Amino acid sequence: MQIEQNISLRKLNTFGMDVSARFFSVVDSVESMTEVVKYCTEHNLASFILGGGSNILFTKNVDAFVIKNNIKGIEKVHEDEEHYYIKVGAGENWHQFVMHCINNQYAGVENLALIPGNVGASPMQNIGAYGVEIKDVFHSLEAYHLKDRQPVVFSGGECSFGYRESVFKNKYRNQFIITSVTYRLKKKPDFNISYGAIEQELNIMGLKELSIAAIANAVINIRRSKLPDPAVIGNAGSFFKNPEIPVEQFSQLKKEFPGMVGYELENGNVKVAAGWLIEQCGLKGYRSRDAGCHEKQALVLVNYGNATGEEIYTLSEDIMNSVKIKYGIHLEREVNVI
Ligand code: FAD
Ligand code: EPU
Repeated sequence: MQIEQNISLRKLNTFGMDVSARFFSVVDSVESMTEVVKYCTEHNLASFILGGGSNILFTKNVDAFVIKNNIKGIEKVHEDEEHYYIKVGAGENWHQFVMHCINNQYAGVENLALIPGNVGASPMQNIGAYGVEIKDVFHSLEAYHLKDRQPVVFSGGECSFGYRESVFKNKYRNQFIITSVTYRLKKKPDFNISYGAIEQELNIMGLKELSIAAIANAVINIRRSKLPDPAVIGNAGSFFKNPEIPVEQFSQLKKEFPGMVGYELENGNVKVAAGWLIEQCGLKGYRSRDAGCHEKQALVLVNYGNATGEEIYTLSEDIMNSVKIKYGIHLEREVNVI
């Protein structure tokens, strides 16, 4: 077990926040992870689990033991007539796993191509894009309870997945380390191209035959055209969730703001495009020092270089206030603020 102290996390979070970790260790096996957890218990240290750092806003130094999860491995553990069951180490890169699936004709995650971060965090907020969420392909996960120091298996039902939600993001926050996730992927693809601009992009690509590889490529092209690359401009993807409001409130707002973008949900509510709300408040492309609201996607807050976590947080508060005043809608942060 190698323990480092007071190391910078700047290169380990996609916002590029220059904060430090009081203690830090990379774990590449369940055994090394349990050793570090034991050390934390014995020294009465709080721990913080870090994956790819692509959904975190650090606003201060982390006064805890940061455990960087690097547990690897992709294994086909089972198959039945319709599915492959693939167990993946939490430290595998998500997009590389998607590419592995495409190369092996495992269908179901192609719409989730190019989402940054690691496999271990994918159930955390039930990652989603272009009409698919992790819950649609999830089978089970293995986690380690930090306090009891025992492994626990969670089924999909036990994770209570919702829109950008799971038990790990709220009820069990900081209580478990996810060590592996098993996905249930289809042998025969169920192409999902109804969402957003996928179909249009497939036409532009001059596609002859639909395939999971083609869908992934279309999604990659769309994402590259509007989302900032964290390697170039610091960001953590959508900073806020798209808010859900009752249909009556939406109809009322539509009278005053006919262009408002919303999608009806099965529960009768309407999910409103937060990017539209922010843009209509005149904040798209807004910049205060190095903290900004991205010029192509208002839902994404960016660090142009030397913004602090506090500055990004303050900008997020200003945006929430503006949206609340203009539309009476409360925006909820999606990114984990530390
Ligand atoms: P981290 O940022 O390292 O961690 C996130 C949270 O999970 C933290 O609270 C951390 O403590 C916890 N955590 C991490 N690993 C573990 C583990 N093994 N066990 C327990 N807890 C853990 N998200 C979407 O859903 N859809 C998108 O389309 C999308 N697009 C994005 C685009 C860009 C450009 C960026 C920068 C981000 C985007 N995101 C998107 C957000 C992000 O990619 C996902 O939330 C991703 O799953 C985060 O993974 P990570 O490994 O970087 O997690
Ligand atoms: N819009 C604007 N102005 C903007 C941005 C968006 O008017 O600046 C409107 C447009 O009308 C557009 C609509 O909002 O049609 C939706 O925009 P987009 O398709 O870009 O998706 P989004 O709702 O902004 C969500 C997810 C993304 C995910 C995409 C594709 C959330 C919080 N965000 O964004 O996830 O990739 O859909 O499925 O649900 C993330 O979670 O980090 C993330 C990037």
